[in-house]
Amino acid sequence: MCGIVGYAGIRDVVPILLEGLQRLEYRGYDSAGIAVQDHGAIHVVRSAGKIERLQDKLAGVRLPGQIGIGHTRWATHGKPTELNAHPHSDCGGNFVVIHNGIIENYSLIKRGLQERGHRFKSETDTEVIAHLLEENWDGDLVSTVRSAVSLLAGTFGLAILSAFAPETIALARRGSPLLLGIGKNEMFAASDVSAIRRHTNQVIYLEDEDLAIITPSSYEISSLQGTPVRRDQQTVEWEIASAEKQGFSHFMLKEIFEQPEAVINAMRGRVLDQDGTARLGGLDTVRDQLRATDHLIIVSCGTSYYAGLIGRYIIESHTDIAVEVELASEFRYRNLNLKQGTVVLAISQSGETADTLAAVREAKRKGVAVLGLVNAVGSTIARETVAGIYNHAGPEIGVASTKAFVSQLTILYLLALLLGRERNLSISEGKQFIAALQSIPGKISQILAESDAIRDIAERYAVFENFMFIGRKYNFPIALEGALKLKEISYLHSEGYAAGEMKHGPIALIHPQFPTVCIAPQGESYDKIISNLQEIKARSGPVLAIATHGDQEIARLADDVIYIPDIEERYSPFLTVIPLQLLAYHIANFNGREIDEPRNLAKSVTVE
Ligand code: M6R
Repeated sequence: MCGIVGYAGIRDVVPILLEGLQRLEYRGYDSAGIAVQDHGAIHVVRSAGKIERLQDKLAGVRLPGQIGIGHTRWATHGKPTELNAHPHSDCGGNFVVIHNGIIENYSLIKRGLQERGHRFKSETDTEVIAHLLEENWDGDLVSTVRSAVSLLAGTFGLAILSAFAPETIALARRGSPLLLGIGKNEMFAASDVSAIRRHTNQVIYLEDEDLAIITPSSYEISSLQGTPVRRDQQTVEWEIASAEKQGFSHFMLKEIFEQPEAVINAMRGRVLDQDGTARLGGLDTVRDQLRATDHLIIVSCGTSYYAGLIGRYIIESHTDIAVEVELASEFRYRNLNLKQGTVVLAISQSGETADTLAAVREAKRKGVAVLGLVNAVGSTIARETVAGIYNHAGPEIGVASTKAFVSQLTILYLLALLLGRERNLSISEGKQFIAALQSIPGKISQILAESDAIRDIAERYAVFENFMFIGRKYNFPIALEGALKLKEISYLHSEGYAAGEMKHGPIALIHPQFPTVCIAPQGESYDKIISNLQEIKARSGPVLAIATHGDQEIARLADDVIYIPDIEERYSPFLTVIPLQLLAYHIANFNGREIDEPRNLAKSVTVE
């Protein structure tokens, strides 16, 4: 959603801010702006729309200065106009603020400020912060920020410039990510490390209730309540090249093609061939709890939720653990039986999804062990869970999640193996399981080699406006994921269903202009899904089948078939999902969509 970048140093600040904002574009935004500090005067330039429009406004404007802040806004309060774009200032123009998050009590605060004579220029919740700073100014920026934010309810990641503290950026965090980047004679601030990775790999992740002050040569962190705090400096492991397109037309396509590597990276160092088991070092501290538990609750959103659904099938079929998978946004409304020994696992690519974080906090409040499966190192969910596993999938930039999904699957399968081997799964079954997992990267590559053929099929289907996706068992969540991929980047209506549900309602939708993507690999559920396919054909619905190489029968029944390599049904989701990602990608491309930054969507959903 919104993005923050800040710089205090010795270089011209505008190009650094603009480049940082461009690197944050993938998170989703609808307006942008910067503020530059120059010997006590603060200049603000903002625009609605894309960063190119901000660049156009800046062309020909001389904006000298080595200290500044920049923002990409995803509208919540007020339309995406220039007036509502950040930064926002107070009446006197002495305090300039950019903000991620939502100030829940802003209308009450705004009324009071207006009664006391403050004039507002925007409809945003953020502007109250600038006026509160003005009203609470006591001659010291740190204590003024403390007083002002003590009046706020809600969430914020803040970067603040003040004409009264020309060498300084103040930063404050409650519920919205913020980090410091440390350079030589220069300091950075950002809501996401990709904004500053080109300049440094040394970062400090701020925690909730932290207040930081940066100058070109120093940083100081204390709590919003006034006590000094120490935060460790960390090294970012990934290179900037992995956040670039490297010749692909879109990040999504690049990330689809990175999936064999994503599986390998998720398995690296985590497989014990001799013992037929997995080693997940991040879970060592909770090993006893995992050995004893008979109840696992997975919480997550979107694609991560669908990974969790597949996790349920694989864990339940290899252990005696009852697995529940709950949408994180619904978790608070359930009165789940969190008995002693229940373990909660939060799955999140970004590690910042507000609903998943809220579920983590709620489960912790109820006293159970909460684990994380997270891609973004140092993210809030990674830090707030008691133990966890990192994906090591590298940055995922495309809004549509692809490589993070297969990486999540890989780790859930390793978890099933580990939990299974600690129960009744034999060593030889464990070895077979590992061999199957190790075969997956090569099989994914075989499907990727068919991308052009899948594009040709996609071209024929790009004319339709409605799609149904059906699957059974392990491939029911893949039907949900295939439908989500298509709708989010092509804006076409698509629904995912458990194939067995078709007769209970959805089959009424079927007609010659309503195609169904039928996920039908060989295995236990094959015969039943073939019956579903025939029922659709009997109603003249076009069918595109995803089937196993060598399946001649399905070629006679379906209109089109995309084949995947032969694999045991339980591992098939790793393969069946790949053609669906490519199908969605190519259909969206034929329809001229903005694939990496689809309308209305943000990469990381940091508001509830
Ligand atoms: O970062 P997270 O995994 O917590 O994100 C969860 C969802 O927002 C995310 O998977 C979303 O559904 C994607 N756009 C799907 O492609």
